[in-house]
Amino acid sequence: YFIGIDVGTSGTKAVLIDETGAVHRTHTEEYPMQQPKNGWAEQNPSDWWEATKLSLSAVCEGIDKICGIGLTGQMHGLVMLNENNAVIRPAIIWCDQRTGKECAEMTETVGVDKLFSITAAPAMSGFTAAKILWVKNNEPENFKKCRHILLPKDYIRFMLTGKFATDVSDAGGMQLMDIKNRTWSDEVLDALEIDKSLLPKIYESPEVSGFVKSTDVPACLRGVPVAAGAGDNAAAAVGTGIVENGRAFTTIGTSGVVFAHTDEPLIDPKGRIHTFCCAVPGKWHVMGVTQAAGLSLKWFRDNFCELETMNAEKQNTDVYVLLDEKAKTSPIGANHLVYLPYLMGERTPHLDPDARGVFFGLSAMHTKADLLRAILEGVSFSLYDCVNLLKETGAEVSDMTICGGGGKSPFWSQMLSNVYRTEIKTVACSEGPAYGAAILASVSAGAFDTVESACKALIRGGKTFVPNETEHGAYQAVYGLYQSLYPSLKNLY
Ligand code: XUL
Repeated sequence: YFIGIDVGTSGTKAVLIDETGAVHRTHTEEYPMQQPKNGWAEQNPSDWWEATKLSLSAVCEGIDKICGIGLTGQMHGLVMLNENNAVIRPAIIWCDQRTGKECAEMTETVGVDKLFSITAAPAMSGFTAAKILWVKNNEPENFKKCRHILLPKDYIRFMLTGKFATDVSDAGGMQLMDIKNRTWSDEVLDALEIDKSLLPKIYESPEVSGFVKSTDVPACLRGVPVAAGAGDNAAAAVGTGIVENGRAFTTIGTSGVVFAHTDEPLIDPKGRIHTFCCAVPGKWHVMGVTQAAGLSLKWFRDNFCELETMNAEKQNTDVYVLLDEKAKTSPIGANHLVYLPYLMGERTPHLDPDARGVFFGLSAMHTKADLLRAILEGVSFSLYDCVNLLKETGAEVSDMTICGGGGKSPFWSQMLSNVYRTEIKTVACSEGPAYGAAILASVSAGAFDTVESACKALIRGGKTFVPNETEHGAYQAVYGLYQSLYPSLKNLY
């Protein structure tokens, strides 16, 4: 057996697979995200660790032998440890947007051209470098105490193995790495006055980064090798078999991502899409990000769907299934209601940390069904923006697979196929990132020679959603209105 652990934004999931790729067990433990101010987002690393321990106990019950563990998780989050390896302050996570000033500082000290040529992006408010500078500028006492900087999944690695390590795909999201050469950039670190000794060692994703030493996890895990793993999107690529040129996927988790594998680093000169190393050694990927994809629906569920949540419990079904049923009763265009999903600012295509969500055209005739449909459509349009920008950079996005929580919804998957006007495939296991991490574990444990051969042997296909031309046409009309809204609003945020 192999285990993949995904330290996500809404919870940590463990997936147990066997050597044929079949999923035997999955377990998720949820935790909250704190938003102390508008646009801020923090989590407690101790919540991730508690959730990891519980998830591992659940999937390991009655199992004697695990051959490998792989790690994945939300990217960009800043975890700082002191000299006793204790957490100094809550982690500032990927969707936090407090670092406007620090981005200006990075642009000034490193220079836009260097940021692009080395880190493949302009100064990004959500990436880790700007968050480190924020702590340096606003909490100098905390910064002084800091001896180790880790990303979320790498904190879990430290708790499991005692090693300070990361992988190439996640390291790129810190904006301190030379993306082409896959190493920390001395030039960027020096310009930002960040000491390299604070950073973990970088591995390629399928390499072994350490062995489980913790006595707080089931005994069958003691001594098990832990693969370096990957950021959640690079791991989802492995979990859906997107490991060669010409293939792409869409994932809808808390964020939404459209991702294309590339053999070479392709860079968008305007920085609206990201270029990172991928989990296949020596390869890269490009991706566009919708900040609040699943988060938009979760926000609506948490605040306005108490009744549906109670009904789902009574019927022993998933509340999102009931919300889909409701959304289906509203027509395409949600009776002229358009939703912009910018709850936590936006990256693709607007790169605007100050943008916020909008329901446009709200009328007394609208029902909860219309609001739900508008949310699903607005997120789909934002992902379509990502598809169009990836195409502009030269990435191939016609061979499209879907995964993540949103990918479990046939209604949303068909909607995306109609909006994109592209066939969308599913794979048998929709747990993209966690499944990908388990596959990386199988490679690092020596069961397969390469990530590609592991994907070929383990991943099974699912069904295909075929686009409906008439519905594509109807969505195009709404998309036109959707696209015209942000430019009219951007100066008002
Ligand atoms: C990617 C990104 C998100 C997080 C959380 O750049 O910020 O996809 O990894 O899932």
